[in-house]
Amino acid sequence: MTSSSEHIDWAMGKFADNYDACMRPLERRFFEARRRQLIPRAEGVVLEVGGGTGANLPFYQSATSLTFTDPDPAMLWIAATKPRPATLAVDFVSAKAEALPFPNAHFDTVVTTLVLCSVQDPALALAEIRRVLRPGGRLVALEHVRPGGLLGYLADALTPLQQRLAAGCCLNRQTRQSIQAAGFSINYERLSLLDILAELEAIRQP
Ligand SMILES: C[S@@+](CC[C@H](N)C(=O)[O-])C[C@H]1O[C@@H](n2cnc3c(N)ncnc32)[C@H](O)[C@@H]1O
Repeated sequence: MTSSSEHIDWAMGKFADNYDACMRPLERRFFEARRRQLIPRAEGVVLEVGGGTGANLPFYQSATSLTFTDPDPAMLWIAATKPRPATLAVDFVSAKAEALPFPNAHFDTVVTTLVLCSVQDPALALAEIRRVLRPGGRLVALEHVRPGGLLGYLADALTPLQQRLAAGCCLNRQTRQSIQAAGFSINYERLSLLDILAELEAIRQP
């Protein structure tokens, strides 16, 4: 008999073990080119939140250091094996977006990719991201978001199933609006794939 916390650890480990294989076709078709284009925007002292198995690691060009976080230790183990620039110092830290164990105004850039769809409390996660960014610091994000029109209603309808299949992932989050409500101004935005996929850069307001 396993305790509920052991069961959660086991389930997280399974998600991590299968994650890269499940995502490979989507990475090739949709995500990799966008990561390659977006991640070099991360400059200076960088924090990646919910970094998963490290799909962004090869694309950091302008970071002087990287703190790479995920709540799932199994994800961090896999990420640590991924290729990354030889000169980039990376610290791997187990942490949830809603409780980042870092001082105020510590980072120049925070990166989230396919994470704000999955965190339990997006407003709290964004408040934490804002807290650890210096004023004028940047949030660089690649997130799927609720599209407008009929597709938005489809995203609403499919979200309960998606949450069960994909570790809590919601298809209908209005992430752009949540970022603005958290005290950021959007500096760059590119929507693609029927306005489902958003590449964003947002500046932390003082
Ligand atoms: C869809 S995966 C994306 C992983 C990676 N960012 C990428 O682009 O491939 C979602 C990630 O969010 C992490 N996650 C889930 N809840 C989280 C939370 N509350 N805070 C931070 N990360 C979380 C998961 O462990 C998982 O690694």
